[in-house]
Amino acid sequence: MASTVGDIIASKTGSIIELYKNVRARTMQIVAPLEIEDYVIQTAEFMSPPRWHIGHTSWFFETLLQAYQPGYKVYSEDYLFYFNSYYEGFGERIARSERGTKSRPTVKQTVVYREHINEQMLSFLESVPNQAEAGTILTLVRLGLEHEMQHQELLVYDIKHLLCDQYDAPLLPAPTPSVNVEGMAEIGGGLFWLGYESQVQSPKSKVQSPSNYDFAFDNEKPAHQVFLQDYALDRALVSNGDYLEFIRDGGYQNFRWWFSEGWEVVNREQWRAPLYWELHDEQWMIRDFSGLHAVEDRANEPLSHVSFYEALAFAKWIGKRLPTEAEWEKAAAFDPQTREPRAFPWGNDPSTKTKANLFENGIWAPASIGAFPAGQNSYGCQQMIGDVWEWTTSDYVPYPGFKSEFDEYNDKWFVNQKVLRGGSYATPQIHIRSTYRNFFHAHERWMVSGLRCAKDL
Ligand SMILES: [Fe+2]
Repeated sequence: MASTVGDIIASKTGSIIELYKNVRARTMQIVAPLEIEDYVIQTAEFMSPPRWHIGHTSWFFETLLQAYQPGYKVYSEDYLFYFNSYYEGFGERIARSERGTKSRPTVKQTVVYREHINEQMLSFLESVPNQAEAGTILTLVRLGLEHEMQHQELLVYDIKHLLCDQYDAPLLPAPTPSVNVEGMAEIGGGLFWLGYESQVQSPKSKVQSPSNYDFAFDNEKPAHQVFLQDYALDRALVSNGDYLEFIRDGGYQNFRWWFSEGWEVVNREQWRAPLYWELHDEQWMIRDFSGLHAVEDRANEPLSHVSFYEALAFAKWIGKRLPTEAEWEKAAAFDPQTREPRAFPWGNDPSTKTKANLFENGIWAPASIGAFPAGQNSYGCQQMIGDVWEWTTSDYVPYPGFKSEFDEYNDKWFVNQKVLRGGSYATPQIHIRSTYRNFFHAHERWMVSGLRCAKDL
């Protein structure tokens, strides 16, 4: 029986209500172990107090209510000021670096605000099938939920910076590695369809989009052809053990490996190791959510918390380079047997706990190299999705033909940032896909960032 547009909207509305409840609840699960004092402290300019995240993600939905719910009354002008992040179009806001200078609204008030927005949103969502702009509203609600998932990942970074092993994370054990991951995959060049629509609309592809693959940000579109030379890509991520060799070889003391800007930062900030590495009795240790560990005991785990500069320096030291984002995406998405792109390295099935180390795995750390053989790509590259975001050498710029779908969300950041791919242990499962483009400044390293190297053939 053919469905009417009304049926489709009603079923989409039903599933978005479920998604809304699940995503909103997870934010509160992440902050649940915090004590009240933890919610308001800002430990660095680049992080935000947890209270701000729980209010800001609600503020995002309040902007939607203001636009689409007739007669909606703003909850508080003060909250609009404090919880706006960077949106010029939504009025004045507190400077990012000052989010930790205010104790009001209190945590309790922020939670009440959050509950108020939830009530309003849930009754608003029930009315969506009767709204003339139902399609637009559903798209914006989904954007709000993807936005919230981005903030869930940021919450993990920020709580790590704030508390690290003092945070009582509900840790689950990581799987042990079951395979050795060695060598480089050799990948043929030629024309490649880069970007989200390659999976669903490319004239080269007949692949149907999988059911969980129904959203992408505007910055992943449109699909377009790029030309690649033949290249090789490491099957494994760079490990802590690999990076310890670089440090022991005097990597941070040798200008030869660094680009000028990176060398300046190394000297100015006195960097001697990745963030969260500590020197105890001449032994490098890594502090994470589970405590302090000798690097040797974590030698087979993917390296994380390095800047773009450190990733570049390591790649140069080892005689390789970083991949471009197109090289990364081809390895992650392209099936050389069928010559079709896929949603994930393993195919079109959704992410599961055995395919990739993502937020739902509950490990709160990268898992050992070789722990997720079920997630490998067609070329034997492992852990491309999950564990750590991978720096690429590509500038974060719009794809040719880019059209902004939401002002100030992605479109105003297309300058001076680098693209990272693949997601991390802090990324929710439904939030990641092979075409996802994350971006950070070259010096940033409080996020879960690592690398895998490439080489010309
Ligand atoms: Fe935001």
